[in-house]
Amino acid sequence: MATLLVTGGAGFIGSNFVHRVLERTDSSVIVLDAMTYAANEASLAGLPADRFRLVRGSVCDADLVDALVAEADAVVHFAAESHNDNSLEDPYPFVDTNIVGTFTLLQAIRRHGTRLHHISTDEVYGDLALDDPSRFTPTTRYNPSSPYSASKASSDMLVRAWARSYGVAATISNCSNNYGPRQHVEKFIPRQITNIIDGLRPRLYGAGLNVRDWIHVDDHNAAVWTILEHGTPGETYLIGADGEMNNRDVIAMILELMGEPADAVDHVNDRPGHDLRYAIDSSKLRAELGWAPHYTSFRDGLRATIDWYRGHEEWWRPMKRATEAGYARRGQ
Ligand code: NAD
Ligand code: TYD
Repeated sequence: MATLLVTGGAGFIGSNFVHRVLERTDSSVIVLDAMTYAANEASLAGLPADRFRLVRGSVCDADLVDALVAEADAVVHFAAESHNDNSLEDPYPFVDTNIVGTFTLLQAIRRHGTRLHHISTDEVYGDLALDDPSRFTPTTRYNPSSPYSASKASSDMLVRAWARSYGVAATISNCSNNYGPRQHVEKFIPRQITNIIDGLRPRLYGAGLNVRDWIHVDDHNAAVWTILEHGTPGETYLIGADGEMNNRDVIAMILELMGEPADAVDHVNDRPGHDLRYAIDSSKLRAELGWAPHYTSFRDGLRATIDWYRGHEEWWRPMKRATEAGYARRGQ
């Protein structure tokens, strides 16, 4: 993989991916990122200038995308609008970036015959009942609930169609909820950690019984690299680390690790259409490609993440106030 084009590489998962690739391989990386509110240039600080370049622009810009795809040996497509709550308030950017952007990228990839790995989410499958023992598999029917998950489902369908009809060499991965360093403070775990640092109480939507299947971002990115190297074009791989936990228990663990009383929580307005439970069966990825998660203790990963936010206030401070103002407007 001589030159990789990484879309959305200034966001949470993409920036961790870029650091990992440049640390562990000889590859060069071009990041294409629109630098929306979700991007943070500080996430790309300290990368080797001879092997790394940041291009500011949109995946919807066909000429720019074509020129960059022409330079790349493979493309890893992280760029997306990624927050469910934002998608409920203003769905248009989700349709534009996630659907039109993926279409634009696919057309360039088709012209140049480039290898693609498309990053997606388990939320395309909708949700499971809390008492349902089953988990999502690569054959689970798509049934998205929110504008965000519907736009990601649409992008997956485009990738599948371009693979089948035009022979594009694309793999797809659907991963569960990520946590770790460099995640925007709008998301559940960093919001609570930075609230506590700021002397605010954690905010739990509704009763907090919704279950998410947590995976450390480094484990997600290790799986992405494995699929890029060894995955079979046309295939979909589910990425998950058996990390199911309900939101109430996650907040209780954060409070305990940060030395706060267990009941120091505010219950706020629930999310409309709030998915109940996500759970991933990643046995295909493990059996076929030999991937396994490194972070087997969520508690240890969470402790390290808390330490990261405590040690990098300059990274998250500029976005905290506007994020909380948005939540306050929605009663959350
Ligand atoms: P993020 O919001 O932190 O980062 C997204 C990045 O995409 C930002 O840097 C943003 O500036 C960029 N971007 C947005 N619109 C763009 C456009 N039009 N052109 C170019 N760049 C644009 O998101 P994330 O959490 O890092 O998620 C990355 C990918 O992983 C997304 O595709 C998301 O659907 C998927 N995913 C996320 C999770 C999770 O838990 N966060 C889980 C599974 C899958
Ligand atoms: P989030 O990080 O937005 O990810 P997703 O919607 O993709 O799962 O939210 C994770 C869970 O946490 C979800 O069930 C909503 C809930 N949540 C809260 O309870 N409080 C919060 O402040 C936030 C942001 C989310």
